[in-house]
Amino acid sequence: MVDSWTAPALTAANPSGVPWTQAEFARYLVTGAGTFHGVAAGPMGPVVHGGIAELPESDIAAIATYLGDIVGAPEADAQQSPVVLASIAAGKPDPAYRQALGERLYVSACASCHYSVPENGVTAARPDLGINSATREADPSNLIHVILDGVAVKEGSGGVVMPAYREALSDSQIAAIAEYLRASRTGLPAWENLDQRVADLRAHVGTH
Ligand code: HEC
Repeated sequence: MVDSWTAPALTAANPSGVPWTQAEFARYLVTGAGTFHGVAAGPMGPVVHGGIAELPESDIAAIATYLGDIVGAPEADAQQSPVVLASIAAGKPDPAYRQALGERLYVSACASCHYSVPENGVTAARPDLGINSATREADPSNLIHVILDGVAVKEGSGGVVMPAYREALSDSQIAAIAEYLRASRTGLPAWENLDQRVADLRAHVGTH
């Protein structure tokens, strides 16, 4: 353990589904990301980006060779490994599942909070986005503002917070969510030039 992060064994005992190989060690040590073993996060970040990155390539290659020899796995095409194929299949149960970008983003970014169940009806602390003016106005500004900057403690119902997505979502991603909500919830005419509207409002420094 390092700072409550686990440092997995770099031997055949490593728990990954795909064995580490010399090529994968090299990718990881040079770029900070292995294709089959994730990224150098936590205490490993500075080791790669602040330390190993300074080494000559030949030294990194030598470390990778040494570590690869310890694991002793063959350099096989890991993309075709049964573990990889099974994991990809499990992550996509139905090929038609939520292919539309807006719906995918909505499900991952918004639906954990914004859902209503018939038994409880609609509640104020968890606004139902299909019925409020934000999605039904002829102008999408309010919806875009709320997605960009959230709702702070001193707005809305006191003490309740809606997170801001300014740093997390791009203009076109926010536009895709707005387009999706408008089309799937309201049946009203689509908003036009949404990407540009998001870019304008993102750049606009208002007083609220
Ligand atoms: C962590 C929970 C949470 C997440 C995630 C979340 N919201 Fe909210 N949202 C809230 C809460 C709580 C409020 C009500 C805030 C208040 O009343 O102070 C709110 C309010 C809103 C409002 C204003 C209500 C209205 O209809 O006028 C909109 C619009 C909205 N959210 C859209 C979104 C969208 C779009 C996403 C995804 C990009 C999202 N929210 C993600 C919790 C969340």
